[in-house]
Amino acid sequence: MSAGPESESSIVNESKAPDEKDVKAAVEGRYAAIARGQLKSCCSSTPSASDLYNIATAQGYTAAERAELPEGADLGLGCGDPTGTADLQPGQTVLDLGSGAGVDCFLAARRVGPSGFVIGVDMTDEMLAKARSNAQRGGFTNVEFREGDIENLPVESATVDRVISNCVINLAPDKARVFAEVYRVLRAGGVVTVSDIVSIGPIPPEVRRDMERWAGCTAGALEKSAYLSTVRAAGFRDVEILKEVPYEYLRTETYALASLTLRAVK
Ligand SMILES: C[S@@+](CC[C@H](N)C(=O)[O-])C[C@H]1O[C@@H](n2cnc3c(N)ncnc32)[C@H](O)[C@@H]1O
Repeated sequence: MSAGPESESSIVNESKAPDEKDVKAAVEGRYAAIARGQLKSCCSSTPSASDLYNIATAQGYTAAERAELPEGADLGLGCGDPTGTADLQPGQTVLDLGSGAGVDCFLAARRVGPSGFVIGVDMTDEMLAKARSNAQRGGFTNVEFREGDIENLPVESATVDRVISNCVINLAPDKARVFAEVYRVLRAGGVVTVSDIVSIGPIPPEVRRDMERWAGCTAGALEKSAYLSTVRAAGFRDVEILKEVPYEYLRTETYALASLTLRAVK
């Protein structure tokens, strides 16, 4: 997420409750427009130079990692480096939730090598088309992009070694369902490493109802403690925060937002 989540200056739509279908339509519309090049970023905030430094630090990709990506794979939509912290090994099967244009899938594909396999799942057709064309141009034969909802994964149970996700789960209306699905598809001993946006303090109801802010990774952010409880409630053990980067410029009187990278074991 190169420009960070949406700023407080966005217009609040208080007339609508966050219905699951509205959220998904708003999210899909936003990311389809980004994939088509009609929008430059997921968010409309204006961070300062030091804010941008924090966002880049949260992202965490090295120059060498960026150099190995097909052009157009990194649209600057992430908020951490779940792949770099996932301890990927040759031969593993990796699943990326909300794969976008494929950035983390391609990084993972190099690490698991030809004996491993990477599956990216995304619900937005335009993003899937972009990711598939990037895979073809980059010559990736160990990556497959599947259309699907991360609340109902198109993946067999107990077939995956590592699940990664970069700035996506905050966009899903039912986070408990997402983590239940992650638990289902992982093999015993499998690990999930997620970078996501969380809130520190409660997000007001009028912000929660704003579909533009859902799509901009603000309104759907869970409070940090609720996020960790949701992961544990799905059955995961050894839940550990690997990195936390506050987005100070988005602090309001009642809440702040932060990028969190966490790891948990099935
Ligand atoms: C902020 S972008 C992040 C993309 C990618 N992970 C990256 O770092 O570049 C969010 C992506 O998640 C997808 N997405 C959002 N909600 C989803 C859901 N419920 N199921 C599947 N994909 C979803 C969007 O279509 C979009 O491609």
